[in-house]
Amino acid sequence: MGRIIAIANQKGGVGKSTTSINLASCLAEKGKKILVLDLDPQGNTTSGLGIDKNRIENTVYESMIGEKNIEECIKKNVFDNLDIIPANVNLSGAEIELIDSEERSYVLKNRLKNLKDGYDFVIIDCPPSLSILTVNALTAADSVIVPIQCEFYALEGITQLMKTIELVKERLNDKLTIEGVVFTMFDARTNLSLQVVENVKDNLDQNIYKTIIPRNVRLAEAPSHGLPINFYDSKSSGAVGYRELADEVIAYGN
Ligand SMILES: Nc1ncnc2c1ncn2[C@@H]1O[C@H](COP(=O)(O)OP(=O)(O)OP(=O)(O)O)[C@@H](O)[C@H]1O
Ligand SMILES: [Mg+2]
Repeated sequence: MGRIIAIANQKGGVGKSTTSINLASCLAEKGKKILVLDLDPQGNTTSGLGIDKNRIENTVYESMIGEKNIEECIKKNVFDNLDIIPANVNLSGAEIELIDSEERSYVLKNRLKNLKDGYDFVIIDCPPSLSILTVNALTAADSVIVPIQCEFYALEGITQLMKTIELVKERLNDKLTIEGVVFTMFDARTNLSLQVVENVKDNLDQNIYKTIIPRNVRLAEAPSHGLPINFYDSKSSGAVGYRELADEVIAYGN
């Protein structure tokens, strides 16, 4: 049975999309059948996986508003073992269009119901907000991974995120768990990165992945080539990091 993981943090630029793309791709490399669901109108995960987001018609938006079946919105085998439901700027309209819908928090859950068993993992990239889109992701998910950037304001907003996750758990999805926190953009040359890791460990009572994703320029370059890191530079420290994270994510389920 498939496991649905939301990659969420309402703080912008912390590595949600980078983690979605590369965790998904490293899981696929290990033989897992993966569906990536881009739930961010920015469409960074869509373009990072080599899809021209401005030239696609069937996206998660069309599926959410009921214009298309979700099956019609899946782009199959963009890489071995990896399918994607893309997103583009149209998705920013979903918020308003869902306002009057009774199922508004459950739309994604309902759409994914019959789909998840065809995959080992469904990875949902969330937008940088605690909007109805993120609530949909948390309602559909079995668990959440929270990327935290190794910078001074790392913990800012985390309390709010944890509160939102708790609320969703109470009201919409009682099986939701926080799978873990993963540090991103760790710079071994600075004391700051180390201090942030220590500080978060001391102050956040959550599972923290042993894997720490390093700051690696190859990870920043890869999306402009439309390639996940294991294809763009298989030996880079970024690829090594995301492979290790994939191992931990697989182990969590066992
Ligand atoms: N480990 C890393 N090393 C170097 N650059 C990185 C790393 N992780 C992410 N980046 C870069 O940092 C920027 C922000 O990352 P990303 O887009 O993954 O964050 P995000 O949380 O998805 O942002 P948003 O909130 O806008 O959706 C991007 O330019 C990305 O290429
Ligand atoms: Mg993003």
